[in-house]
Amino acid sequence: MCWQVPGDFPSGVYAAHLQQGSEEFYVPFYVRPPRGKPTARLCLLVPTASYYAYVNHHMNVDWGSLIEHSSTCFATLTTADLYLQNQTPFGLSMYDDHNDGSGVCYASRLRPMLRMGPHEELWQYNADSHITDWLDEKGYAFDVVTDDDLHAEGSSLIEGYDCVMTCTHPEYYSLPMMNALLSYQHQGGRFIYMGGNGFYWRVAYSPEFPGAIEMRRAEDGMRSWIAEPGEYHMSFSGELSGLWSRSGIAPQRLCGVGFSAQGFNFGRPYHRTASSHDPRCAWIFDGIAEDEPIGDFGLVFGGAAGSEIDSADVRKGTPSHALVVATADDFGADFHWVVEDYHHAHSAVNGETCPYVRCDMVFYETENGGAVFSTGSIAFAGSLSHNDYNNNVSQVLENVVNRFLDPDPIG
Ligand SMILES: [Fe+2]
Repeated sequence: MCWQVPGDFPSGVYAAHLQQGSEEFYVPFYVRPPRGKPTARLCLLVPTASYYAYVNHHMNVDWGSLIEHSSTCFATLTTADLYLQNQTPFGLSMYDDHNDGSGVCYASRLRPMLRMGPHEELWQYNADSHITDWLDEKGYAFDVVTDDDLHAEGSSLIEGYDCVMTCTHPEYYSLPMMNALLSYQHQGGRFIYMGGNGFYWRVAYSPEFPGAIEMRRAEDGMRSWIAEPGEYHMSFSGELSGLWSRSGIAPQRLCGVGFSAQGFNFGRPYHRTASSHDPRCAWIFDGIAEDEPIGDFGLVFGGAAGSEIDSADVRKGTPSHALVVATADDFGADFHWVVEDYHHAHSAVNGETCPYVRCDMVFYETENGGAVFSTGSIAFAGSLSHNDYNNNVSQVLENVVNRFLDPDPIG
């Protein structure tokens, strides 16, 4: 069957709903604006490379007890988990091992992608619908650009936008994608990082096979497998893979924060810091009282700061003038500090015992009137619709988007 996307479809995130009898399947697709002609002032970056990395993963079954130790709750299996376990044609994900124990370092979009429908877990494609839903609800027009587009065409694709916004988990990034975002920021673009554990692994796109990416879990990091010695470089490009923080562009340089902890049980609210009253950023909290918890609610683990969370660190690249405007730091034992930040095994590595298990909301000005705002939390978007979109998480984001779309230079 073939269906041609009508030429007048507005740019956006879509899914084709296929039905046969009682069975159904969703095929996600994205419509770009006409090349070189933005149709909105806001651009939403859809992290397709990160979608490909997770596609058809077997984690909930094959990780065994690790999935329960990591989440501190019983594993629950979806229909997709069981189906994938009994079928082989859909392949493995970058979170899985081959039968010989070696990790899977390639992924492709050219196969059916299970887990990307409205009845699946709130992760990646589905969790990102909280952002598109909020933008629609608030009446913000936006264009959609995917990782694949950004990799292929670079900063020219986004430089026409006043503001570029990420989705909840842009974890896998190529060098051309990284350079495009840095270039956009240097030109005065406004950048909103709506996620956690972003810009973490270095990937390559295949120059020969459209839609195929590669990544090696080299050296360190929170990783599902460990690359063997001599297998740290990518066959597609020859580049060293692994963490971006080991490749000279730590995420803190791009968005002020980087991966600090994860926990998949209970999210927490942010609390404003003393810095939040600085006139440089106080407008972010217009309509929000000084001491009210921000986001003690939400569809993703019940709090706006949760799932995978990031924090600021000047030593890693957070600009020295960046303001940590709100922080969530009262996490429980279900949250675990990232392994790349400690050198010896010890007991003070969870939310109750480790001061680095923290989620920082950050703002800073950039060159040429630009600025960066980062939530540092995958769960943040899950709180936007609470109380019919009338809540302080939604208010913070609305204040930021409105200011970032205002052409008056920031700073
Ligand atoms: Fe991830």
